[in-house]
Amino acid sequence: MELSEALEKRRSIRSFSSRPVSEDQLLALAQAGRLAPSASNLQSWQFFFLTDPELVKKVDLFSPGLSGHPPVILVICSDMGYAKIHGSPNSERYGCIMDAAMAAENIMLKALDLGLGSCAVKSYNDAAVRKLLKLPEDYRIEILISLGYPEGEVRPRRLRPMEELLHFNAWQEEV
Ligand SMILES: Cc1cc2nc3c(=O)[nH]c(=O)nc-3n(C[C@H](O)[C@H](O)[C@H](O)COP(=O)(O)O)c2cc1C
Repeated sequence: MELSEALEKRRSIRSFSSRPVSEDQLLALAQAGRLAPSASNLQSWQFFFLTDPELVKKVDLFSPGLSGHPPVILVICSDMGYAKIHGSPNSERYGCIMDAAMAAENIMLKALDLGLGSCAVKSYNDAAVRKLLKLPEDYRIEILISLGYPEGEVRPRRLRPMEELLHFNAWQEEV
């Protein structure tokens, strides 16, 4: 799919069919994620694709932000132990989270390209998800992404008008 078309078409999908997602597709998503830029090229991200239906169901239970019963949930973590050794103080403050967000958008656009739907989800019970995934202490969950074949219609976009957010050069009071 052409990039401009993908940018226009990507929407948060909140209703999924039970059609399974193949491992090859998940590998393509992981590849899209690892191609993202990261501060100082740190790449401290860790991608957990949850495909076990029991695990997906349990994580779903602790994620009020998730909806539509996705067949796959991606949990993007940062390895903060790795970041501590190879990064800088800024990695912990904001670098890793921004890197994860860059990877997330790459993955969501690639999902669209593969005919899949996705939704970024930040509303989840961190402690419960950590426990279910048996995460090492120094892994930080950055974001969840629901994944699967979309079902149903999406709501129309609600975009703020361009003139409310576009600037050229320094900020100027309206004249
Ligand atoms: C950082 C972040 C966190 C989000 N968390 C949630 C969430 O917990 N639950 C949810 O339903 N949608 C969540 N979303 C999806 C947004 O609601 C959605 O992107 C926004 O409404 C714009 O719609 P669109 O993605 O279809 O353009 C999140 C999006 C981002 C970027």
